[in-house]
Amino acid sequence: MNVEKKLPEKVLRIIKDIPAIPDIVVAVMQMTRDPDVTAKQLTDRISQDPGLTANILRLCNSAYYGMPRVVSSLNQAIMYLGFHTIRSLVLTCSFNRFFNPGKPIYGYVKGGIWHHSIACAIASDLICKQVHSEVHDSAFTAGLLHDAGQLALGLSIKDTADTIIDLMTNENLPELEAEREAVGFTHEDLGAHLADAWNFPDELIHAMQHHHNPIESETQSEMTSIVHIADAIVLDLGCGVDLEQMKYPVNPNALKMLNKDQAWLDSMKVEAAALIEEQSFQFLQTFD
Ligand SMILES: [Fe+2]
Ligand SMILES: [Fe+2]
Repeated sequence: MNVEKKLPEKVLRIIKDIPAIPDIVVAVMQMTRDPDVTAKQLTDRISQDPGLTANILRLCNSAYYGMPRVVSSLNQAIMYLGFHTIRSLVLTCSFNRFFNPGKPIYGYVKGGIWHHSIACAIASDLICKQVHSEVHDSAFTAGLLHDAGQLALGLSIKDTADTIIDLMTNENLPELEAEREAVGFTHEDLGAHLADAWNFPDELIHAMQHHHNPIESETQSEMTSIVHIADAIVLDLGCGVDLEQMKYPVNPNALKMLNKDQAWLDSMKVEAAALIEEQSFQFLQTFD
């Protein structure tokens, strides 16, 4: 995907300051996209990181993945769950620290952006299964990472965060407009550049770039609509949220894109709320 290469100096500086994603994540992202890679090769690569392996096994044995019996080896986990789910587990374990910066990010309570991201991942996965989407394999990951740009922005603009909050609360500007006014670009813009720099696949870049306006996504509008609806639902549920003004309505075109109506959306809200309440705590703990 072609993300606009000419970036404001400020964005370049932010991207430079963001810690590189670990080699293991880059390797797993590449390997899980390569049809020639075998389960044994993936097992061998992930096993080189024992801490990550232990955390993957811990998560994969949680109720969320509904294993028929306890999985005790990485190889078994890969056979049961498949490459894409293993990829989302690797990303969940690896991004846990990145999304837990120890200070609040504007719009969220302390630690809230991780709560929001996990809730959005769970809701995206749920919606994806409901619409029988072909993009199912990536929905959890896209939901998990959709606001990485907001995290990066929040960490980088120390004084300007107050301006964004002020513009949202006192001037009633929507989040993206407040960001544009305060820093000249949005967390979606920054997220797309990060995803591109991290060499993420197109569907993830689009979800990060267009989740507030999914119809702007020309080639990945199904995935982007799924993440958009999940995001709006979990904001409405208040997961990790500090500012009421963060909430936004579901774009009717996103529902149309998925051939769904308001009654379906209402039922999704109820289902997502129950699932998040029941399952999200398993992802919220800090991993070793
Ligand atoms: Fe966002
Ligand atoms: Fe979000």
